[in-house]
Amino acid sequence: MLEELEQQYAAAAAALAAAEGRETLAAWHSATLGKKGGIYLLTRNMGALGPDERPAYGRRLNEVKAELEAAYDMKLAAAEADELEAQIATGALDVTLPGRQPATGRLHVITQTLRDIYRVFGDMGFQVYRSRDVETDEVNFELLNFPPHHPAREMQDSFYTTAEGVILRTHTSGGQIRAMREQYPEPIRVVLPGMCYRNEQVTARSEMQFTQVELLAVGDDISFADLKGTLTEFARRMFGADRQTRFRASYFPFTEPSAEMDISCFLCGGAGCNICKYTGWLEILGCGMVHPTVLRNGGYDPEKYFGFAAGMGPERIAMLKYGIDDIRQFWANDLRFLGQF
Ligand code: DAH
Repeated sequence: MLEELEQQYAAAAAALAAAEGRETLAAWHSATLGKKGGIYLLTRNMGALGPDERPAYGRRLNEVKAELEAAYDMKLAAAEADELEAQIATGALDVTLPGRQPATGRLHVITQTLRDIYRVFGDMGFQVYRSRDVETDEVNFELLNFPPHHPAREMQDSFYTTAEGVILRTHTSGGQIRAMREQYPEPIRVVLPGMCYRNEQVTARSEMQFTQVELLAVGDDISFADLKGTLTEFARRMFGADRQTRFRASYFPFTEPSAEMDISCFLCGGAGCNICKYTGWLEILGCGMVHPTVLRNGGYDPEKYFGFAAGMGPERIAMLKYGIDDIRQFWANDLRFLGQF
């Protein structure tokens, strides 16, 4: 009997030594020490033994079980450690590698410029008023004092739709009419931003689509001094507190008198550089007092109301501010360009 026990023990120990991996070990355990396992079943031999052999056999059997159990525990722990090791190795994370930067979006440089403009005028009480991109010839031109065949139309050739008299707006000035007709008889302080379209030869200096921001103030006590004060304050907030402004007489059909506003060059401070073409001044916007006919077309009696208006090009402002030399960059959708702002 003892001999059989020793044989089984040797066989079980050899099988255990050869077993690799948790599954194999578990199979070995149930085949050896489990309730139906070879070693466990040896307990049954006890009954066949005489009373003097029984204690020695029982003691040895317990020893063998304990040794196999201990050896099994050690192998199992080693197998678990190996498994963990392998998992760590395959799922290796090298925390010393540089991180991957998530691609974050940003606002288009013109959107940023528009928001800068809104902020300055917003502080002065102007609200953003959105007018339409597809506009009638009547609002875009006629009500602004450009009758058919007026020579000032020459500078603003548009894109025409198949609907008679419906075009893409060439400037934001038509929005003045819509804002006035909507807000009459209230006083008005609005900025009218948006995309404009012109049938132009596209070059580094002119595009067929570009944004404009229009400014309109209407009230019963608005004077040219308000225009100068508002626009000079804008120039200082937008381009630097020490900016000088100058107003040169100009012509627009919808303003009388009309002017163009220059600011002292913010790059050279007025001394002269290649951006201001050595004049010390940068042309920034057109402006003027709203023409009486335009006020009337908007519903406001020009005997009682006055207004001033201005129009500027955010692309031009951004070009000056960031030293961009080609206007086509803005709407070409090249991320290498857009990502710089
Ligand atoms: N609409 C003019 C243009 O596109 C710009 C402009 C000039 C707007 C003078 C104005 C203004 O409101 O007063 O060239």
